[in-house]
Amino acid sequence: QALNVAIVGATGAVGQEFLQVLDERQFPIAELKLLASARSAGKTTTFKGKTYTVEELTKDSFKNVDLALFSAGGSISKKFAPIAVESGAVVVDNSSAFRMADGIPLVVPEVNPEAVKEAGIKIGNPGVGIIANPNCSTIIMLMAVNPLHKVAGVKRMVVSTYQAASGAGAAAMAELEQQSREVLEGKPVTMDIFPFQYAFNLFSHNSDMKPNGYNQEELKMVHETHKIWNQVNGDQTAITTTCVRVPVMRAHAESINLEFEKSITEEEAIAALEGAAGVSLINDREANRFPTPLDASFKDDCYVGRVRRDISRSDNKGLDLFVCGDQIRKGAALNAVQIAELLV
Ligand code: A2P
Repeated sequence: QALNVAIVGATGAVGQEFLQVLDERQFPIAELKLLASARSAGKTTTFKGKTYTVEELTKDSFKNVDLALFSAGGSISKKFAPIAVESGAVVVDNSSAFRMADGIPLVVPEVNPEAVKEAGIKIGNPGVGIIANPNCSTIIMLMAVNPLHKVAGVKRMVVSTYQAASGAGAAAMAELEQQSREVLEGKPVTMDIFPFQYAFNLFSHNSDMKPNGYNQEELKMVHETHKIWNQVNGDQTAITTTCVRVPVMRAHAESINLEFEKSITEEEAIAALEGAAGVSLINDREANRFPTPLDASFKDDCYVGRVRRDISRSDNKGLDLFVCGDQIRKGAALNAVQIAELLV
């Protein structure tokens, strides 16, 4: 059945990608509504050759809407997602507002698609209807790690991220471009979004710092993974993370060290990754050719390489790997649309 779809945050980096992905995947759309702030009301966007006018998001925006894709930040989701559900829509929310809430499924379709059905969420079943899209770094990490987890069980993982500008939205991408130009022209750099110079630099992730010395992004990766893997206290994979912003436009990279419950050889790991949906390998040691953020940019798959036995161990229970994934696509819009596809 074709659905009436609303996009909240339609003018943003992820909102625009929603349109691209919905078009490419021929998502069955009857009517489409583009919503953003009052600042954008009246702007136009084309979708499948038709021109649509952006409307201001209000509490009346969701009449007759079956599916609402939200990517306008946590406070907008907190306020308007319940209103959309009340109006009878299913919400797929890209913000962090509901990710850890009880009863709200947190879904990577390649990892835990069953969570949507278990929560009783269906189109046209009003009242229960928010599905959360995980954090981009969590999604990209799990795309690489979950196929190995299924084979050998991950006991502990140590992850360092190299995160792109896009995670902080369209304005952050513009800031990186502008600063790069300013540096090359010998001008002082303009700083609006980030507290540090971003061009030709890198810095610890700009999310809130917690008293234990971890920032919010790092803790999201830990807690969201436990929820997605359905791991309860006492039976959780040990995870530690360091998140860093690097001057890359739209794909995140992550270095991952894994300790397994069972032995797993390099060959077994590569076979598992080769067989995994949404994963491609770039793993050519002879050519020293491994994934880069540019390989992953504008692509649906996450690219994995550097797959190697951890030489700090004497057994076959440790592996290192490197993954790159498009933050706007698999990290956000594509994953959300794949969740929506579970409903049709
Ligand atoms: P707008 O362009 O009108 O500000 P990004 O993540 O790329 O920064 O995009 C954020 C998205 O969220 C944009 O589409 C933006 O719309 C939207 N947004 C921000 N604030 C509001 C608001 N108060 N009401 C509705 N949409 C909003």
